[in-house]
Amino acid sequence: MAVDILLDGLKRLEYRGYDSVGVAIASEGLKVFKDKGEMSKIEPLIPRWNGQMGIGHTRWATCGRPSKENAHPFVDCTGRIALVHNGIIENHLELRKQLEEEGHTFTSETDTEVLVHLMEHYYDGDAHATLRAALSRVKGSYAVAAMVEGDGHIVVARKENPLVIGVGVGENMVASDVTAVLGLTNKVVYIQEGESAIVSADGISIFDAQGSTVDRQPTPITWTVEDAEKGGFEHFMLKEIYEQPAAIHNSLLGSLDEIYAGAVIPDIDVSSVKLVACGTSYHAAMVGKYVIEDLARLPTTVELASEYRYSPGTGECPFTVLLTQSGETADTLAAAREARRRGCRTLAVTNVVGSTISREVDHVFYTNAGPEIGVAATKTFTTQLIAMYLLGLRLGAMRQTIDRTKVRHLSTELRSMPRYVSGVLDRASQIEEVVEMLVDARDIFYLGRNINYPTMLEGALKLKEISYIHAEGYAAGELKHGPLALLDASTPVVAACVNDHTREKMLGNISEVAARDSPVLGIGVEGDRELAAITDAMIGVPRVPPILSPVPLTVVLQLIAYYVAKKKGCSIDKPRNLAKSVTVE
Ligand code: F6R
Repeated sequence: MAVDILLDGLKRLEYRGYDSVGVAIASEGLKVFKDKGEMSKIEPLIPRWNGQMGIGHTRWATCGRPSKENAHPFVDCTGRIALVHNGIIENHLELRKQLEEEGHTFTSETDTEVLVHLMEHYYDGDAHATLRAALSRVKGSYAVAAMVEGDGHIVVARKENPLVIGVGVGENMVASDVTAVLGLTNKVVYIQEGESAIVSADGISIFDAQGSTVDRQPTPITWTVEDAEKGGFEHFMLKEIYEQPAAIHNSLLGSLDEIYAGAVIPDIDVSSVKLVACGTSYHAAMVGKYVIEDLARLPTTVELASEYRYSPGTGECPFTVLLTQSGETADTLAAAREARRRGCRTLAVTNVVGSTISREVDHVFYTNAGPEIGVAATKTFTTQLIAMYLLGLRLGAMRQTIDRTKVRHLSTELRSMPRYVSGVLDRASQIEEVVEMLVDARDIFYLGRNINYPTMLEGALKLKEISYIHAEGYAAGELKHGPLALLDASTPVVAACVNDHTREKMLGNISEVAARDSPVLGIGVEGDRELAAITDAMIGVPRVPPILSPVPLTVVLQLIAYYVAKKKGCSIDKPRNLAKSVTVE
């Protein structure tokens, strides 16, 4: 029965994180069951309908909170078309308005629901043509599967979201990830960007973006379920590091265009900003201080949530931004409540829609990085950085402290960031080799200046938490005030030096360190011969405006931490003593 196959497949995807579950089965009409919550609680409630065809979905909320109404599948007003979707429909508000004016009744807050109503609008008996017509109206990203009751086939399409067809005997399956179909088949056909397909029990037809037929042979899969969960990567952390180009893209989706429309924060009178967070999120906040001061010329302070919540306060009410990827960190939640008690307007930057923090603040910015399984934050950090750039640009535009040319330049560079990050990922094997110089160290110093001082704090934290090597991030100018006493040939230094106004000073600091015989691993702009000449090894990153350099540098630092921990045989995804979400004080 289709329902059992669907539920098995969805269970294999549970590791990715989700907040609601739903299935639709073609069985004497369309039958739908969906709800918010865990699979183990929902599964026993789902009737075992007799149908042979169906679609199912586990949702990780991005647009609209986790709820029964917002869970997929969605059904049109006639009750004949059902649809599930991964991705983000950017122009959903505009489409929804038009469809409502035409008489369509919406039942959810999601962007996805416009797709099923668009299909209803275009439906002429050919589900594949209807789906293509509906998608031609849409801006955004999708992997979508839809079925029309009585049709005997499912229609699918993809743009910027994965989609795979499992080829069985007398049955075929569609999924967003190979993991879901393992166990049923080891032959799959990957749907490529812009393609669509018609899938029935005994046939698969694939079409390119122009609608012409594509001939593609299935690929045999040799992965185990374990391998597949990690997409072929050895650890979730590595998979998530590699997901960063897509995560950054999703984080930016729509936001750059909407920045002037008040999507990130509304038009309010801001005279100072306070950024509050813990751990890695605190480092994103520290980068945020440099960004906001530079772009918006606003006095900005940064505080650890665990300190802020017990601080006396000054009677002033800065615009208070709370960064927490999970949205559940106890100290940050307490800080949000304290900020509101003090009368401050609050904004949360979080990755989890419907998380507790989103209900405790005045405004929310979602980073849309997708679920993160590895305990060490990676893609949720770089997307928090993106949020800081968007906030800085928005505040700068509001206050007219940056001119249009600079805004345009930074926006273009931000749009190119997924490509720059891919450029860093291409250097992974060089990084894997170079970390030999760090593996046996007991202590390592991470040095940076200016906006890359917090970048190096984050690099040191990443190394500490997964490799258990003592690593200390330091502002390079502070070396001479104490830590220089610790440096010798057994204490390597990782130093960031980019093309900003502190470059000469940083080169000087690196020379001081090298003079104490510390082995130095430099990270700088590719082709920087001067840096290469004074370091023992150098990793180059693509040249970006210095204010954006924390993003590519961070990806190098994540890979350094990862490969050191791997060489030491550490438990990378679940480091000792640490939890993904720190819900206790
Ligand atoms: C480190 C890490 C932690 C978290 C911290 C705050 O890799 O993940 O330092 O950053 O516990 O968590 P959130 O961002 O969920 O508030």
